[in-house]
Amino acid sequence: ASTLGAAAAQSGRYFGTAISSSRLGDSNYTTIANREFNMVTAENEMKIDATEPNQGQFNFNNADRIYNWAVQNGKQVRGHTLAWHSQQPGWMQSLSGSALRQAMINHINGVMAHYKGKIPYWDVVNEAFDDSNGGRRDSNLQRTGNDWIEVAFRTARAADPAAKLCYNDYNIDNWTWAKTQGVYNMVKDFKSRGVPIDCVGLQGHFNSGSAYNSNYRTTLQSFAALGVDVAITELDVEGASSTTYANIVNDCLAVARCVGITVWGVRDSDSWRSSQTPLLFDGNGNKKAAYTSVLNAL
Ligand code: XIL
Repeated sequence: ASTLGAAAAQSGRYFGTAISSSRLGDSNYTTIANREFNMVTAENEMKIDATEPNQGQFNFNNADRIYNWAVQNGKQVRGHTLAWHSQQPGWMQSLSGSALRQAMINHINGVMAHYKGKIPYWDVVNEAFDDSNGGRRDSNLQRTGNDWIEVAFRTARAADPAAKLCYNDYNIDNWTWAKTQGVYNMVKDFKSRGVPIDCVGLQGHFNSGSAYNSNYRTTLQSFAALGVDVAITELDVEGASSTTYANIVNDCLAVARCVGITVWGVRDSDSWRSSQTPLLFDGNGNKKAAYTSVLNAL
């Protein structure tokens, strides 16, 4: 195969990218994105502040621009994200308690109704765990009660029964980390109690030298063994080491339930951390060594 999407499809997987609506008029960008990828995540446009800027008033203009571009070009869309402590609109930041809990439920219902039956995977809850101790992150949502995550998942299941519902986070790559174990134990608990959860997204924002570890495959396998799909959802690697990229691809391919990989942007110049040149295409849209490494590994 000569593109990332076609190469991933050889094993029944997808290869995706984050797309920014502000770049859909850049033909260098859209040419690469259309050619190489068969899954799309809106980089910001489906987040809470974008889709419900005023309480109860939904706005899907930019989200739909991305959704329509993807579908018109034969791609699927991962939904990102319904409940998160970050990129909340001001009105939500100022809520607490039962009012915030109900606002979260209403938000999930409003966004999922708009895309009902159209989005195969939703990141229902994003980044809910603390970075160091394996417990929950302190946030306004967490302060509504420890059951907020399962309420979000149950709400999402009822809103769109066809969507696979994912928990998504970063720094859950290394099997030995407390945060990884905290998320693992939550998923295990949800499965044992029948709380609807179908997938775990590992964001994959790796720093050079440190974060990628050979036990990554163990982490993917361990989550999958709980009976959920796993996906690498926001991959970027500081410095774009070809070896690291190939190792990550090989780890996904080694796990039957690793359904696909999404990189967090097209060209280095599109990246949220562009100074680290973490992506597969340079600022001019040329394929980097890491691109070839990924294509060959797929
Ligand atoms: C980032 C976007 O790339 C930026 O454009 C935005 O300013 C902040 O959010 N984890 C996530 C993503 O789940 O939504 C974040 O995306 C990166 C970290």
